Amino acid sequence: MISKRLKETFKFIEGFNCLADCGTDHGYLPIYAVKNNLVSRAYASDNKKYPLENARRNIEASYLEDKIKLVLADGLTYLTEDIDIVTILGLGGRSIAKIIDEANMRFVKRIILSPNSEQANLREYLENNDWKIIAETFVKDKGKYYQIIVCEPGNMELNKLEREFGPFIIKDKSPEFKEFINSLINTLEKALKKVKNQNESSKLIKRINELKEVL
Ligand SMILES: C[S@@+](CC[C@H](N)C(=O)[O-])C[C@H]1O[C@@H](n2cnc3c(N)ncnc32)[C@H](O)[C@@H]1O
Repeated sequence: MISKRLKETFKFIEGFNCLADCGTDHGYLPIYAVKNNLVSRAYASDNKKYPLENARRNIEASYLEDKIKLVLADGLTYLTEDIDIVTILGLGGRSIAKIIDEANMRFVKRIILSPNSEQANLREYLENNDWKIIAETFVKDKGKYYQIIVCEPGNMELNKLEREFGPFIIKDKSPEFKEFINSLINTLEKALKKVKNQNESSKLIKRINELKEVL
């Protein structure tokens, strides 16, 4: 069954021609996108053989071998002119930034990213490299929280908290996002009760107040 996280991602794929899904693993994303005519063709790539075999089995089971091309590659070094949308989900923010930096993104009209860590580093990279966030979603799926970031070529300026949590996510203030921020605040408040060092407690108080700003 397709996860809530992937379903949220599909909302931003429609209207493009050819998708490249980097770090595809099981291949569910390109399979669903092609099966549901969100794109006409796709590339499913991974830098490891085992995940790519996983994708191969699932693609064959869906009879989509003629529409989804498997690529064993580090990052997106294989991008061609026909690929107009890219997805990179489930990697760290710095790795995603490195992949985008090393690829020829000239023909890509949209990228959809879901970093599982270092979100601020990734948004800072996007800000400094002519990508503009046009939409975001914050998803809770099987007890885990995910940020989904949609970008197109353009410019933007973000502040510190927007880099960490996302300008649209902060503006939306979804119940899932508030729950996430409150859980961070709770953890810090518990730590604050145990801390004896003045310097440490000032740092914790500063961070708690910062987090309260986005609620
Ligand atoms: C956690 S899985 C995410 C799978 C899928 N994208 C999802 O979100 O459900 C990360 C996948 O990225 C692949 N990967 C990691 N670094 C990569 C790189 N530099 N280039 C291509 N694939 C990479 C891993 O082999 C793994 O299959």
